[in-house]
Parts: sequence; C-alpha cells; structure tokens
Amino acid sequence: MNGFSADWLALREPYDLRARNPAVLDAVVTWCKDIFAIRVVDLGCGTGSTLRALAPCLPARQNWRLFDNDFGLLARATAVVPPAEITVTATPLDLTRDLEAALDGPVDIITASALLDLVSESWLERLAVEISARSIPLYAAISYDGRTEFVPPDPFDAAVVAAVNKHQRTDKGFGPALGAKSAPFAIARLKSLGYSVTQGKSDWVLEPYDRDIQLEFFSGCAAVARQTVLAHVDMVDWLARRREFVAAGQSSIRVGHVDFWARQTGTL
Ligand SMILES: C[S@@+](CC[C@H](N)C(=O)[O-])C[C@H]1O[C@@H](n2cnc3c(N)ncnc32)[C@H](O)[C@@H]1O
Repeated sequence: MNGFSADWLALREPYDLRARNPAVLDAVVTWCKDIFAIRVVDLGCGTGSTLRALAPCLPARQNWRLFDNDFGLLARATAVVPPAEITVTATPLDLTRDLEAALDGPVDIITASALLDLVSESWLERLAVEISARSIPLYAAISYDGRTEFVPPDPFDAAVVAAVNKHQRTDKGFGPALGAKSAPFAIARLKSLGYSVTQGKSDWVLEPYDRDIQLEFFSGCAAVARQTVLAHVDMVDWLARRREFVAAGQSSIRVGHVDFWARQTGTL
C-alpha cells in the first residue's frame, strides 16, 4: 500500500466516495448553488477523485485547477474528457514550496481529500492563513482521525494500530505530519480566523465482501508495523491470521475519518 500509487488511489476511491459525510457535502453544495461559473482549486489531487466526487453536485459551469507533484497521477486526472461546461487544468506543483501559487488567481472554493493528515502543523497553519487572507472556503474530506478497528479482534491489533498511528506522524514531505490531529487542528485554527465549520465523520466501513481493499490495507498495516515496534515473526503471523479471516468472509474494518467545510462568516 503506497499511499500515492495510482493503483491504491483507484482501489480506495469508491470507499472514499461512499464515506464522504453527506451533511458536510450538502453544506458545500448549498453554499455553491448560486455561483454561475464556479472555480475550484484541488490540492494534492491525485488522479482526480475529488473532481469526480464533487463535479456532479456543483453548478454546471465549472473550472477546476488541479495541483499535485506527481506527473503520472496528474496525467490520469486529465485522461477523461469532461463535459463541455467543465474545464480542467492539471498543474505539477510542490505544495510545500509553492502553495501560494496554487491559491493565486480567482477561486471560489479550495478542496483537498486524503491530504491534511499528511501535512505538518506549520504547513496547515500556512494554508489557514493564506486562505483566510483571500477569504476562500475549504472543503477537506477523508482526513484520518486515529480510529482503526478490526473485526474479529486479534491480540496484536492494538499494537498494529498504535504503530500505524505512530507512522501517521512521520514526515511525508511537509515536516512531521499531524496525522490524526490534522482535522481538529485545522478546524480550531480556521475558527480562530473567523470561519464557521460544518464537520462530520466519514469512516471507511469495509465489509467482508470488500476483500481486495482489506487485503491491501492489512498488508500496508503490517509493513508499517514491521518498521516500527513489532517483531517480524509476530507481524507475519498477525497478517496470516487476518488474511484467513478475509478468505473466510469474516473480516471487516472501520477506519475513522473526518470531513469538514469551513467558510468565512465572522469578522475579527
Ligand atoms: C493520499 S493521496 C490523495 C489523492 C487524492 N486527493 C485522492 O483523494 O484520491 C495524497 C496526494 O498528495 C500528493 N502530494 C503529496 N505531497 C505533495 C506535495 N509536496 N506537493 C503536491 N502534492 C503532493 C500526492 O502525490 C497524492 O496525490
């Protein structure tokens, strides 16, 4: 499970779509509904999952500017020709260096999906200050919140989840990542800057028949746990037991996420 591989992003996309919090999405759509031609900037766009999730809910005339530092993912994001009323441009950009360049120019909303838990406190502070100075709202979806639960339970689950959560805090290119603390930090900071926030859970619920993503998820957890606290043999045994549960159609997983929509309403 490489967090940014096109295969992994494709595998997770239907689960992200299903998980998006409907009340948060509804708040975004309601705010946007009277904009004649909406301009969206998507940060860390990957292959364009947010575009595909949000475009059908927005006013027909849309301009999307997609930013990512991975050329391969950007190429996939523009591989499908959108309807005539929607224009999409994909621009390679390093968000650690050139965040401000992505925000410049006319923009109605900023979106980000599965991005905030990768970034550091200082980068998120920078994002909050920059969007606040420009009075731009932010729709941030699918930020991990630290809850991972496996059914049936296994004695090693807690150690694996602790290792995964520890790994979440490591540097993903933005400095030490906020991981599970990213959404609460962003929400608190944006509120302090006069934003109103609608938030809600957007958990992945992986059912026994969601076998491919479960197998990939367990492999990723084992790889991470092996790098950190757990002995190799314990990890291999844990993974073997988990795979047996998947094969038997007995395994399910819940992964906690948060979505939020922040728009400027107050004056400071
Ligand atoms: C977990 S993926 C999420 C992709 C997409 N938003 C989605 O929901 O499927 C994180 C994305 O952030 C991008 N990314 C990571 N570091 C970046 C950086 N420094 N500058 C720009 N993009 C970056 C990755 O290439 C990847 O596409």
